Amino acid sequence: MLKQIAEQLVKTGSYINGRWQQSAQHFTVLNPANQQVLLSVADASASDAERAVCAAADAFASWAALPAAKRSELLQRWYQLVMQHQDDLARLLTLEQGKPLSEAKGEIAYGASYLQWFAEEAKRLYGDTIPAPSNDKRIIVQRQPVGVVAAITPWNFPNAMLARKAAAALAAGCTFIVKPAHQTPLSALALAELAHQAGIPAGVFNVVVGTDAKAIGEVLTQHVKVAKFSFTGSTAVGKQLLKQCADSVKRVSMELGGNAPFIVFDDADLDAAVQGLMAAKFRNAGQTCVCANRILVQQSVYQAFADKLAIAMTQLKVADGLTDGCHIGPLIDDKAVAKVTQLLQSALDDGAKLLLGGSAHSAGAQFFQPTLLTDVQPQMAISNDEIFGPVAALMAFDSEQEAIALANSTEYGLAAYFYSRDIGRVFRVAQALQFGMVGINEGIISNAAAPFGGVKQSGYGREGSKYGLDDYTDIKYLCLGGLQPAM
Ligand code: SIN
Repeated sequence: MLKQIAEQLVKTGSYINGRWQQSAQHFTVLNPANQQVLLSVADASASDAERAVCAAADAFASWAALPAAKRSELLQRWYQLVMQHQDDLARLLTLEQGKPLSEAKGEIAYGASYLQWFAEEAKRLYGDTIPAPSNDKRIIVQRQPVGVVAAITPWNFPNAMLARKAAAALAAGCTFIVKPAHQTPLSALALAELAHQAGIPAGVFNVVVGTDAKAIGEVLTQHVKVAKFSFTGSTAVGKQLLKQCADSVKRVSMELGGNAPFIVFDDADLDAAVQGLMAAKFRNAGQTCVCANRILVQQSVYQAFADKLAIAMTQLKVADGLTDGCHIGPLIDDKAVAKVTQLLQSALDDGAKLLLGGSAHSAGAQFFQPTLLTDVQPQMAISNDEIFGPVAALMAFDSEQEAIALANSTEYGLAAYFYSRDIGRVFRVAQALQFGMVGINEGIISNAAAPFGGVKQSGYGREGSKYGLDDYTDIKYLCLGGLQPAM
C-alpha cells in the first residue's frame, strides 16, 4: 500500500533539529480499514522531546531575527511542495486515518491553505502608535514572537491541525515542536520532510512521534524553554495539560471538544438543511469536533425533515477510504466503535427510535452504518457526549426560545449551526447562541480566512484568520521619553 507513495515521504522516526531519528523501541502504525500494519516507527522518549525543545530554543533567535519577507518565502515554498505532493500525502493520510481519499485530498489542501495564509500574514505583523498623555513621550506598540511553541495534535486531521498551528507559529517568528497522535504519525513526518525540502532551518520545526503521550506531554507542557503550548483534542485531556502548563505560566491555546447543535427552523429551506447536515454530520465519518451532534428540528417540519434526511443517508457508501465513491471510512479504532455502539444502545434503551442503520457495517470491524435516530431527548447520554461517529440524533422542539435554550444547555461552545430564511431570526439566534462559531444556512464553516475556536469548555484561542497570529505573539509597549515638545 505504502509502495505507491513517493519513498521520500514515508518516514520512520522523529524529525529533530533537521535530522531523522531512530531508536531501539518501535511502534506500529495500523490501517484502520483492515487493522493491518502499515509501518513500524521509532518510538520517541521524553528525552527525545527534551532534545527537540532545546533544538527549538537554540534556533529561536535566528529564526525570529529573519525578515518577515524571508519567513514568508519559506512558508510559501512549503505550501507549494505540499500541494505538489497532494495526491501522495492524501493517500498516506487515508491509509493511516481511514477517511475517504477525496476528503483526504481536501484535508491536504485545507492544511496547505494555512501555510499560504500565514505566509501572507507574516508580513502583516503590525504594531501601533498611541497618543501619549504628554508631548515629551511617544507610545509605541510592537508584536514579538512568544518563543518556543509546543503542540499536541489529534488523529482526526493529521495534516491540517498540525499545519494550522505550525504555520501561525513560524510566521510569527516562533520555533515549533509537535507531538502528533500516535495513531497517525506518518502525515506529520511527511510534512516535516517537505519543510526540510522547503529550506526551513534545522530546529525551527520538529516532530516527535511516540506512544508515551504522558512522558512526552509532560516535557512539552512543563519545560521552561517552552513559552507557549497549543493543543487540539478532548476537553478532559486539555484540562490536564492546562494544569501542567500552570507551573511555568505558559501561554496556552486549547481547541477542545464540542457538542454542536444543528437547528432546523420551520422557515428553513429543508433541502438545503439536509445538504448542510450531511456535510456537518458525516465529514470524516462524524469524527470532527465541529460535527453536528444534536439535531434540533422544529415540530411542524420534523417528519418531513427526517424523511428527506433518511433518503440522503441511504445514498452514503461505506467502504475502505481508498475505494472509489466512498463517503464513509472506518472509525479510528475499536474503542471508537465501542463508544458509538454504547451511546446508541443507551439512547435506544431510553426510548429513542431507530430509523436507519444501528450497528457495525459489514465492510470490517471498525466500520459503522450511517445511523438515524429520532425521538432523542436532551437528558440522554447521546445528547451530552460527543458521538464521534456516523450517528444522526434528531430531537424535536416547538419554539425559537426552546431551541436556543436546548442548544446552549451544554458545557461546550465550539460550533453551532442553524437554518432559517427569516432575517430577523437569523440575527436573534446568531446573537443568542453561546458558541465560538455559528454556521447560518451553512454546514461547512472551516477555512483559513476564518477564526476557528470555541468558548466555555471548548477552549480558547483562535486559529486561522487575521486573529491567528495573536496567540503566538507578545505585545511589547515602548515608552519613548525625553522628547522636546514642538516649539
Ligand atoms: C477538529 O475537528 O478539531 C477540526 C475540524 C476543522 O478544522 O474543521
